[in-house]
Amino acid sequence: MRRKAKIISCSLQKGGVGKTIFAVNIAAFLSTYRRSRYSRFRNRVLLVDIDTHSSATKYLGAYDDSRDSIFEVLMRKTSVKDAIQTFSYEFGRFGVCQIDLLPSNEILHHFEKQWSELSNPELRLKEALDKVAGDYEYIIIDCPPESDSLLTNAFNCTDYYILPVLPDANSFQELAPTISQIRNLPTSTNHGTILGCVINESSKRPIKVNDEVIDIKSLYSDILTVFDTSIPTSSFIDNSFAECIPIPFYHYGIHKCPRIFGAMRTLSKEVVARIDEKERVKYA
Ligand SMILES: Nc1ncnc2c1ncn2[C@@H]1O[C@H](COP(=O)(O)OP(=O)(O)OP(=O)(O)O)[C@@H](O)[C@H]1O
Ligand SMILES: [Mg+2]
Repeated sequence: MRRKAKIISCSLQKGGVGKTIFAVNIAAFLSTYRRSRYSRFRNRVLLVDIDTHSSATKYLGAYDDSRDSIFEVLMRKTSVKDAIQTFSYEFGRFGVCQIDLLPSNEILHHFEKQWSELSNPELRLKEALDKVAGDYEYIIIDCPPESDSLLTNAFNCTDYYILPVLPDANSFQELAPTISQIRNLPTSTNHGTILGCVINESSKRPIKVNDEVIDIKSLYSDILTVFDTSIPTSSFIDNSFAECIPIPFYHYGIHKCPRIFGAMRTLSKEVVARIDEKERVKYA
């Protein structure tokens, strides 16, 4: 039997924390790694954009409302294979890497409106991804910030969650609702594992209470595993977005950006290691 892709969601019910930045760049780094130490082949990676803002689609420069997107797939008007687009990137002397994308566009708003008239609306993404899960090592989902029917679809097929958080009190408060929604999914649905939260924009000013600096990492780790890697604020993030080239390929192509390249690469390696560890325990 073909091995099924590991499905990873970048999710938090708060806007602007880095879900899209993480989803696109983790997908990009995973596409640069070999399938195993002994394999000649790189990972096959599918990036799924299930946000009506279509930021991940725009990051790859693929926004095009004349083409079929995830909306038509969820509505069963087209097949998932027909909606997927492939993007190739030069990765310096290491050759060419590929990312497949299931794009989004604005029309996705209509899914929420038609939800009540559909059969099994909450399982439409799972149904679609089941058809291609054997073709990939990893599927990365960029989730919307709102708790809506699209987020429910993402949660119903997720194996592993990564929760990006900012080092501020507001973001800290938003963690609890996301954790509780994941942990309280109906027993009939797939229950994914939360790998942990990743502190994004870690170089922001520290939080102070009564002039005392709060250790944000220990605050978060009281409620959830915190990734060892945190991601600094970097202007190269917005530049790579504007140029539609994810960080690993941006670094090897247009501009050297060793700090953010290094942080994102370390994060992606930590994601792989944490998943491998969970799978070892699961199948031991
Ligand atoms: N580490 C970083 N350094 C600099 N800019 C960043 C960093 N992380 C995120 N940003 C910027 O912050 C903004 C929000 O990031 P992003 O779109 O990934 O958040 P999001 O959680 O996906 O938001 P939404 O919920 O609206 O989809 C973007 O403009 C992005 O370029
Ligand atoms: Mg986003």
